[in-house]
Amino acid sequence: MDLSPAALILCSLLCSVSGQAPVISVEPRAVTVRQGESVSLRCKVGSGARPIQLEWRRANSPALPDNAKTGPDGSVLTFVSSKPGNQGQYTCVASNSAGRSSATAVLSVKYPPKVRVTPAGPLHVKIGDPASVVCRATGRPRPDISWKRQGSTLQLFTTESDGANGIQWAAVRPEDAGVYICQAESTEGVTDVKVELIVEAGPGVPVAKVSTTEMTVVEGHSVTMSCQASGSPPPDITWSKLRAPLPWKHSVSGGVLTLSSVGRQDSGQYICNATNIHGYSEAYTQMEVETPPYATCMPDHVRLKAGEALQLQCLAHGTHPIEFVWSRASRARLPAGSMTTKDGKLYVAHVQVSDSGTYTCVATNHIGSSEAVARVNIKA
Ligand SMILES: *[C@@H]1O[C@H](CO)[C@@H](O)[C@H](O)[C@H]1NC(C)=O
Repeated sequence: MDLSPAALILCSLLCSVSGQAPVISVEPRAVTVRQGESVSLRCKVGSGARPIQLEWRRANSPALPDNAKTGPDGSVLTFVSSKPGNQGQYTCVASNSAGRSSATAVLSVKYPPKVRVTPAGPLHVKIGDPASVVCRATGRPRPDISWKRQGSTLQLFTTESDGANGIQWAAVRPEDAGVYICQAESTEGVTDVKVELIVEAGPGVPVAKVSTTEMTVVEGHSVTMSCQASGSPPPDITWSKLRAPLPWKHSVSGGVLTLSSVGRQDSGQYICNATNIHGYSEAYTQMEVETPPYATCMPDHVRLKAGEALQLQCLAHGTHPIEFVWSRASRARLPAGSMTTKDGKLYVAHVQVSDSGTYTCVATNHIGSSEAVARVNIKA
């Protein structure tokens, strides 16, 4: 049968349209949300012969997640309160009489770190036995993992292997007992998990314990540190100082170490050592000696001509923080336009003859204060 030219033109329009497979796109093509937030993916139809059926599918999965809902026409896929497990690829499949096409969107779900410590603890370990504990953390973005001891800011030495971070003890010592904290941190948050290590002594093995692990003392005062030890036969207790001899003004009696009139150089770590035939056990006390300020002026005598600049610096030894206050003798005011700084400087850009006299700096910390003076002579 021959078609008339008019029929041919009609068919070239209608036939091509009725024969066109759907052309679609998804929006957004990639999206990141936080856990708990809701998000929608849209499937947009550009062209294609109607009717067009739309359907959302998840890559490598027979079904959509429970919290994912599609609208009545199938074009919008909404995740209500998204979950970490929703992360993945979602494909919109469009089909009509002429064929089918698809477009894919990628959903990423961020969530704060989740931490798991194994064994969960408390760990009961005998002195001298090995022990280990591993911390694993998940989260998006991937968290950093670190371990520390409760009551201490020091990071512990740990072994790392992809996503896990562990502490190992080749042989547990009594002083290893305590609470250890695994911390996982990312931009989404910080999560801590604690695990306790309980060290069990074998029969008779010495276990040393100090009454305080950290102390601060004011210079010139005396200090006592006491140490007790269990074990059988009763252990001998000795005291020593880390990397230094004990201060010469010390005495030891019945596990108690007394230091009389401590000085700054006596700061440090003191070690109690309890020894018997089964072995030994160490316990530590960290002691810091605090000192009042000792102030000096630099220079302590200045000669200047009127119009010149004056600069004095007050220096002080002692426990920080130290505050500095400048003043003048006989209640005279500091020169007009003088400047002082937190670190003890006094500065006057142009001195006058009347600025001559005695300048006093008082340096103060929480223990005490100290005064230093500078004499200033100014000639016309
Ligand atoms: C504690 O005593 C043991 C055994 O006598 C010794 O090996 C160890 O070095 C001592 N520790 C310190 C800190 O003195």
